[in-house]
Amino acid sequence: MTRPTRALLKWSNLRHNYRVARERTKHEAYAVIKADGYGHGMLACANALSGEADGFAVACVDEALLLRREGIRQPILVLEGAYDAQEWEQAAKHHLQLVIHHSQQLRDRAQAELEEDVAVWLKVNSGMNRLGVRMEDAPDMIARIRNDERLILRHIMSHFATSDEADLSFYEEQKSLMLNHAWPVPLSLSNSASILRANTKNGIESEHVLRPGIMLYGSSPLEEFSAEDVNLRPVMTLQSALISVHNVPAGETVGYGRRWTAKRDTRVGVVAIGYGDGYPRHAPSGTPVNVAGKRCELIGRVSMDMITVDITDMPEAQIGSPVELWGELVDIDDVARYCNTISYELYCRLTPRVPRINLQ
Ligand SMILES: Cc1ncc(COP(=O)(O)O)c(C=O)c1O
Repeated sequence: MTRPTRALLKWSNLRHNYRVARERTKHEAYAVIKADGYGHGMLACANALSGEADGFAVACVDEALLLRREGIRQPILVLEGAYDAQEWEQAAKHHLQLVIHHSQQLRDRAQAELEEDVAVWLKVNSGMNRLGVRMEDAPDMIARIRNDERLILRHIMSHFATSDEADLSFYEEQKSLMLNHAWPVPLSLSNSASILRANTKNGIESEHVLRPGIMLYGSSPLEEFSAEDVNLRPVMTLQSALISVHNVPAGETVGYGRRWTAKRDTRVGVVAIGYGDGYPRHAPSGTPVNVAGKRCELIGRVSMDMITVDITDMPEAQIGSPVELWGELVDIDDVARYCNTISYELYCRLTPRVPRINLQ
């Protein structure tokens, strides 16, 4: 028997989630597949969506070139734009769309020999204070882009700092700053949280291109709604199995650092997954794990290759019983809450050691 740890990837669910994004608003949607498709495999995501997605968004030119080398022909937007003149030239050659978020990028462009036109999206900083030109500098940047015969200004974009939070006051401020300005080209504003607010009083009517990321993978960024509530389906199911089962008398401890003490005689299951696979080391006792179809709890510290679970109330569980860490049965957003992080990080941390199994 080989090690039972693996990530099953259900590509029909990626397509379903993409349609949820698209149908909520009827706008175009560029699927955000940066960072190796949020840990799901960037190329596999692009291939799975190739018949549907209006375009893809990645972080950097290197990621975009990888997609082009593998034959992906759809529009690709580079969210951090070109880092230097050479990347401008590659973008022109490979028909990449570039975000311009800083005037330095236009100085780099001036050093580049562009063989073809380049479509650009101007990123405006509406309050996130990460990337983007300030509102007052946008008219000058727009004029400079329009004066360049090789650049085509496609969209004005901005990114929200708090669209996933319960207090939407700052989100509303960012929205009104962007929506109450007369821009010369259509807008692109919404990430997943903002898309999921469509058709509510906080929704956005007048934008042209959505940029869904996390929702495509089947996780809800919203505090108040689970993925299931908003009709999203998990793409990844992280699985393993019990490789040992034993009894620990009340009063004894389990694992490194003796962090968990049995309050009763406990049946302990050992699962073949650990932080060497990307399962978070800081997952506390109590984190949900599904064993043979039933919810149980992680106990003790996560080690490199193994975790331990309490299966006292599951006499049917035995060596070889299937275990799910997140996916169809265990909501990754629940696991993330226990670990004081977000699903984005859990997905991205999955290591290459875990075999990826493609389904449909
Ligand atoms: C500019 C931009 N747009 C869209 C997204 C997608 O965000 P989400 O995964 O929350 O949908 C990201 C993600 O980091 C981003 O940086």
